[in-house]
Amino acid sequence: MLLGGPGLYTGPMSDDGIRIDYALAMEDGSSSGLTTAELEAEAPAFERGLRRVLAEAEGGRLGFWTLPDDHIDLEKVLAFAKKVPATIRDVLVLGIGGSSLGGRALVEALGPAFPDPDARRIHYPDNSDPWRLVGLLENLDPKGTLVLVISKSGGTVETAAQLLVVREWLNAAGAPMKDHLVAITDPAKGLLRELADAEGLRSFDIPSNVGGRFSVLTPVGLLPGALAGLDVAGLLAGAKAMRDRCARTELQANPAGVVAALHVLHHRLHGRPIHVMMPYADALRGYANWFVQLWAESLGKRVDRQDRVVETGPTPLPAVGATDQHAQVQLFMEGPRDKLITFVALAEPLAHRTIPKEEGPYAYLGGTDLAELLDFERRATALALARDGRPSLTLTLPRLDAHHLGELFFLMEAATAIAGELYGIDAFDQPGVELGKRLAYGLLGREGYEDAADEVQELERGLPSHRV
Ligand code: PA5
Repeated sequence: MLLGGPGLYTGPMSDDGIRIDYALAMEDGSSSGLTTAELEAEAPAFERGLRRVLAEAEGGRLGFWTLPDDHIDLEKVLAFAKKVPATIRDVLVLGIGGSSLGGRALVEALGPAFPDPDARRIHYPDNSDPWRLVGLLENLDPKGTLVLVISKSGGTVETAAQLLVVREWLNAAGAPMKDHLVAITDPAKGLLRELADAEGLRSFDIPSNVGGRFSVLTPVGLLPGALAGLDVAGLLAGAKAMRDRCARTELQANPAGVVAALHVLHHRLHGRPIHVMMPYADALRGYANWFVQLWAESLGKRVDRQDRVVETGPTPLPAVGATDQHAQVQLFMEGPRDKLITFVALAEPLAHRTIPKEEGPYAYLGGTDLAELLDFERRATALALARDGRPSLTLTLPRLDAHHLGELFFLMEAATAIAGELYGIDAFDQPGVELGKRLAYGLLGREGYEDAADEVQELERGLPSHRV
């Protein structure tokens, strides 16, 4: 077997947590990488940014940072999950965006490749497109289903619409709401909180200082995970271990600092606003989608902290190896030089299967493990890109278990917070989605949004006709 240089060979590794190899994002590893001086020059901004993040966390305004210490919610979740009767075979999770992607990524990453027919199944219709929801409702047994409705604000139209449809479905089957519907929402505010309190529904809190896309380590991810029988305590322990590493004040010792600085500097200094997340692990497809929402909604902003118009932000792109070697890698290799790729590798694969030895045209494959083949492909792709001056970094997990997934979630959350500081924007709001929401309410005829309905009409009337 050919062993690679640092950063490429995954092999067995000591379990000190996720390793980040970024030689191929630096000038000495890839011709168009950053110079050490460029990285070092960002250290003061990183230190200021980290200090601010830590102060916000300390002051109770940035809740995601302290979630790994939250044992009260963990205990509540575990106690509840334990009491859910075995007759509940399906869990239907209603939610969208940050109320869906993290939990879904968690269940997908730690669940089995092929569902055990006796295990509880977790469903994430996510979108309000009726295609999947209707399919689920036609096939699930309401009396054997627990519905989790998740909305931090309680006002999200897609989730509210699904909730009404699902309540009708439960009611029609005589399935009592108290036994079949659980709300996960803000502790004090919002329509879902009102409904849960008014109807005496079982409910869990999303701390008011934790935004949707940073909420996977609250009951938003923990409850579906616990109901699927996953090690959610291990997830929090992994997040805590990573949180401690991400509090280090020296840039090059801080994993989130390095990830954030590489991305922001490749964008700012080398014109690379496209940030690809490419795990070589099928189980991390959902993780790549979760990252896309986290990075995009947090970092794409019109104004900076001084309210100056900057219209900045990276464009995250999900990819999966080796699948995308046959889809997007052609573009990554020969298209615009506008990308920084983050590979994710597993030192210990989730499964092994030796390719049988056979005479004939495929004899060269015999005796290689399928997992080894996947890893060879990752190394080959990273090297091929680097040889042409196309940079990447690699996050290597000792193995994909709850602990290391917790690390991986926290790493990117912390990197997002620090990248927000380096871009000089507020990573925790999302004003850009408000106008679209208002216009949709106008179209729905919602009371109080009459002006939005007029605005839609005006905007549509003003459009020239270009049609074929
Ligand atoms: O990250 C965010 O804040 C958003 O993506 C929200 O999670 C998403 O809009 C859903 O919001 P809510 O949880 O309020 O229903």
